[in-house]
Amino acid sequence: MAHNLPIGVFDSGVGGLTVLREMVHALPGERFVYFGDTQRAPYGGKTPETIITYAREITRYLNAWPVKAVVTACNTESAYALEDMRKVTRSPVLGVLEPAVRRTLAVTRTGRVGLMATKATVESGAYQAMLRRHRPDIAVVTSACTKLVPLIEAGETTGSALEAVLRMYLEPLMSADIDTLILGCTHYPLVADRIRAIVGPAVTLVDPARHTATALRRLLETHNLTATVPQGDHVFLASKKTPAMQRLIRSVKADAKLELVDIEALHWQK
Ligand code: DGL
Repeated sequence: MAHNLPIGVFDSGVGGLTVLREMVHALPGERFVYFGDTQRAPYGGKTPETIITYAREITRYLNAWPVKAVVTACNTESAYALEDMRKVTRSPVLGVLEPAVRRTLAVTRTGRVGLMATKATVESGAYQAMLRRHRPDIAVVTSACTKLVPLIEAGETTGSALEAVLRMYLEPLMSADIDTLILGCTHYPLVADRIRAIVGPAVTLVDPARHTATALRRLLETHNLTATVPQGDHVFLASKKTPAMQRLIRSVKADAKLELVDIEALHWQK
């Protein structure tokens, strides 16, 4: 029965595991198949065409498992590719932008919102448009944090290099007097405590991961897809084994094993 199939989740690499962790916690009766495209990451500086091509390939791949729903944990993919993903699967598709936008609208008092994200996500204008659609007077101040993902992927989640880069990206947002800050990239929750230390307690941080888990629960209920029998182990897949990936999957499941997926084979699944 479809409702007892796993849920497919993907990201460009390790960052999506922050989203997976929240979903596993919120939906303990569900089984997940996670794919991190570590070989081709980061996505945040790629063209819209490439971002969409990758999303279609991976959606087709997950669909063939089969899965009952596909979640892209990646903000960059969510900004560009949801409609294209829907063209290659009949399963419901979920991204992280809408849950984050709903939360932002609920918490901002002044309507002055900061967005930290990849260059591609900022340039897509997707967050900005979605926020303005619901609240036309909202001011969205953006920061394309190109240096942040490579630092975090390299395991630099503390220390002076990270501190300097974070200050460079956050100070313009703070000068713009924001009251809410969207962590619009999967990797940023991994350094949320450092971000919090810089922006101070008056700014509300929005982590899309938590709100995506709630949105997934609603999506499963709406489509009558909530699992009814205990499920097997989660599956962790990557296009390249990296130390960060090995470490982070264990933060989701202590004895998790990582399996390799042949990226060349995926490349034919346009
Ligand atoms: N997963 C990406 C995102 O959330 C960040 C990493 C990347 O650039 O691939 O936008």
